[in-house]
Formats: sequence, structure tokens, C-alpha cells
Amino acid sequence: MTKGKVDALLGIVFGDEGKGKVVDFFTPRYDAVARYAGGPNAGHTILFEGKKFVLRSIPSGIFCENTQNFIGNGCVIAPDLFMKEARELEAAGYDPAKRIHISMRAHLILPTHRVLDLAYEAAKGKNKVGTTGKGIGPTYSDKAARIGLRVGDILENFTEKYAALKARHEQILRDLNYTNYDLAETEREWFEGVEYMKRCHLCNTETELNRLLAEGKNILAEGAQGSLLDIDHGTYPFVSSSSTTIGGVCTGLGVAPRDIGRVFGIFKAYSTRVGAGPFPVELFDTVGDEIRRIGHEYGAVTGRNRRCGWLDLVALNYAITINGVSDLVLMKNDVLDTFDTIKVCTAYTKDGVTTTDMPYDTAGWQPIYEELPGWKTPLTDIRQEEYFPERFKNYINYIETHTNTPIHIVSVGPDREATILR
Ligand code: GDP
Ligand code: IMO
Ligand code: MG
Repeated sequence: MTKGKVDALLGIVFGDEGKGKVVDFFTPRYDAVARYAGGPNAGHTILFEGKKFVLRSIPSGIFCENTQNFIGNGCVIAPDLFMKEARELEAAGYDPAKRIHISMRAHLILPTHRVLDLAYEAAKGKNKVGTTGKGIGPTYSDKAARIGLRVGDILENFTEKYAALKARHEQILRDLNYTNYDLAETEREWFEGVEYMKRCHLCNTETELNRLLAEGKNILAEGAQGSLLDIDHGTYPFVSSSSTTIGGVCTGLGVAPRDIGRVFGIFKAYSTRVGAGPFPVELFDTVGDEIRRIGHEYGAVTGRNRRCGWLDLVALNYAITINGVSDLVLMKNDVLDTFDTIKVCTAYTKDGVTTTDMPYDTAGWQPIYEELPGWKTPLTDIRQEEYFPERFKNYINYIETHTNTPIHIVSVGPDREATILR
């Protein structure tokens, strides 16, 4: 029997590229969908048959009857938020607990991790990262410091282990003079969530996933965040705390590099970023406001305004290289339907130096743009490539030429149906 493959779908910019939509669209082709990094800082939106869901920790393969869903060891999980999310799906007629396998090695986000997240941000003042406040940084810090609690811990002597880590966090919070918080209600829900999680299949997900591969089954690894938010390769320190890039698929799921198949790199026809940090293509004018308004660029988790700008080929090519992207997935093209001119950043310049390589620190670099004519035609109802306006076809070709990578999917609306395979 031929061994199965792990394909990956990764956000290759600053997140919110439309990963949820495309994972949901791809799911019928796969036997399993697996999240390998991040936690409830993610917000993955899925729309079909007039229904809308925003998934945070639960993989976007959950709506397909025959697909198994995995939360891998590279993820962090908040039991209370997980339970809330699962109950929303139950209310809509799904039974998520039945089809979710959670790694016993995934780390738990404690209520005090979330307080620490807020406390560290407050202490940073104007240098704050603009985190989602979900406790991501403190949880991954405890993991690296080898003091974290894992899902497997909930099965034995858990209250003692919980109390010890909580006490440690409370000491740090006292040291930071951050004592104005009340955890009673949150803790009640959190422990209810711990019990709820036990209804899922808690296991060594790496064993299960490798068994599926040996049986010739195929797996889709669902990215969270984006390559420029990767702890190593992103715009540090304005990043998240996990490995969002391709290496994270291997470490976060326990699958071998030789089992990786296609790598889908997903991005929008323009750029956005939520939170602080350098963003060379950011627009501060009415064009940026228009992109935000038309594209509904407000955070799915925190409701914050997303910062908007034109497409950035420097960032894109960097992410394609470090991830080994085999196929591109181009999203939200309809958002640019009404613009006369579309700009694309082809290089950065600073102090008389021009580069197409990603600088160590992108702060202070200015974008150099090329201009393309807008297509000025509504794309949302088009379902076949041959009906695309010529100028939109030119935009697609332009990106393929300048990235040397084929665009496999073009999305023209939020609905599952508004997806064109090429
Ligand atoms: P994710 O985090 O990568 O899954 O992306 P988000 O769900 O945070 O953000 C993507 C947003 O764009 C969601 O509101 C989607 O419903 C929406 N969306 C996805 N694809 C398209 C598209 O092609 N056109 C438009 N207009 N919206 C889209
Ligand atoms: P999805 O999966 C966009 C950003 C935050 C902040 C930084 C660190 O929906 O694409 P964290 O809470 O992770 O410590 O925040 O990362 N961020 C995201 N931005 N989409 C996301 O997820 C994000 N997850 C985190 O805004 O700047
Ligand atoms: Mg999102």
C-alpha cells in the first residue's frame, strides 16, 4: 500500500488569510484534518448554506462527516474556551466531541496564563505586542521552561498540579503589582471544560496520525496565524509564540518531513495585520480604510481593526521560500473589485538601499510599488476561470510570475461555493 501524505495549508503572511474557509473546502479530499500550532488566538471563519462559524481551537474539518479531527501536541488549549466552542457546534446540530482527538502532549492554558498575558502586555507599555489576550505567550513560555501542564495531566492528581502552577503564576502577578483580577467564575468554567474535554478522544495523536498514513490515508495540516507571526521567522518580538511555519507541522504533529506532500500557502490579494509591529505596506489613507470596510477587516477573535495595505511580494517570497510552498491560494480578490489601480510592493528601500530580501527588521523600510489596472468588475458570482475579466487574469499571472509559484485556488467570496480550483 502506498503511504499517505500530510499536505499543509499555512497562512503565509500575518494570519486571517482565509485558512478556515479553504480547509473546510478541502476537507472532503482528506481523511483527517490536524491543527499543529497555536490555540484560541486563532479565529477561522467558515460560511456555508447560510451558516457562519468561527472556530478557534477546533479544526476546520469538523463539518465533514467522514473526516477525523486532531488537535496536535504543538497546540495549546484552554478547556473553558474549547467547551464553549464545542457547545456552539452542538447547538448547531454537530457532535464535535465524537470526532476530535486531542494530543495528551498539548499544553493547557490556565486562567492565570491569560491574566499573565494581560499583565506582561501592560508592563510593556507602548512596546506591547497587541496579543489576543488568550494566554498564548505565557503558556508556551511555561512549556519551554518545562513547568507547563499538559492535557495528559488532567487524568491524574490534577488539582494538586494545577494549584502548584497557579501559585507560581500568582507570585509573578504579585511581583508585577497586577493583582486586580478575580478568577472564581472563570475557574469554575475552566474545570467544567476539563471534564468536557474527557469526552473527546485523548491520545498520543502522533501514533494515530502515523497509523493513518501507514494505511494510505491523507491528512491536511491546518495552520494557524501566519508565517510572519512565527516565533523564529516572524517579525520578532511582534509575533505569536508557536512555530506557525512548515517545521511546526513536523514538531506539532509528530510526522516526518518525508511524509509532507503539498504545501499550500494562503494569502489575500492585499495585506493585513492585527496587533503591533512593523508593516511596511500599511496604508494610512482612505484607500486603507476602503480595503478595511469592503473586506470587513476586523479581528475574528478580538474585533480589533486590522491594519490594511497592498500586496507585499517581499514578504510573500520570503514565506514561500522558508515553507517550500508548492501551491498558492489567493483569497479575497472580490474586495479589490472597485479599485481603479492596484499596487503591489516589489521591493523595500531604506537609506538609499533597495532589497527584495526580507530584512532582519522591517521597521523603517519603505515599499516600492508597481501599479496594475483594476478589473472594475464584480467577481463574487464567477465560478469558472474563463469568465474572469482579463485584468484580473493579468493580476493572477503577475503574482505567479513574480513568485514563481502556481496559484491553485482563487477565492471570490466568503462562502464555501465562491472558490475556483485551477
Ligand atoms: P483565517 O484566520 O485565516 O481562517 O481567516 P479569518 O476567518 O480570520 O478571516 C478571513 C475573513 O475573510 C473571514 O471573515 C472570511 O469569511 C472572509 N473570506 C474568506 N475568503 C473570502 C473571499 O474570497 N472574499 C471575501 N470577501 N471574504 C472572504
Ligand atoms: P488566525 O489563525 C491574526 C497576532 C496578535 C498579535 C500577535 C501575538 O486567525 O490567522 P498572541 O495572542 O498569539 O500572543 O498574539 O499575533 N495574532 C493573530 N493575527 N490572525 C491570527 O490567527 C492571530 N493570532 C495571533 O494580533 O499581534
Ligand atoms: Mg483569523
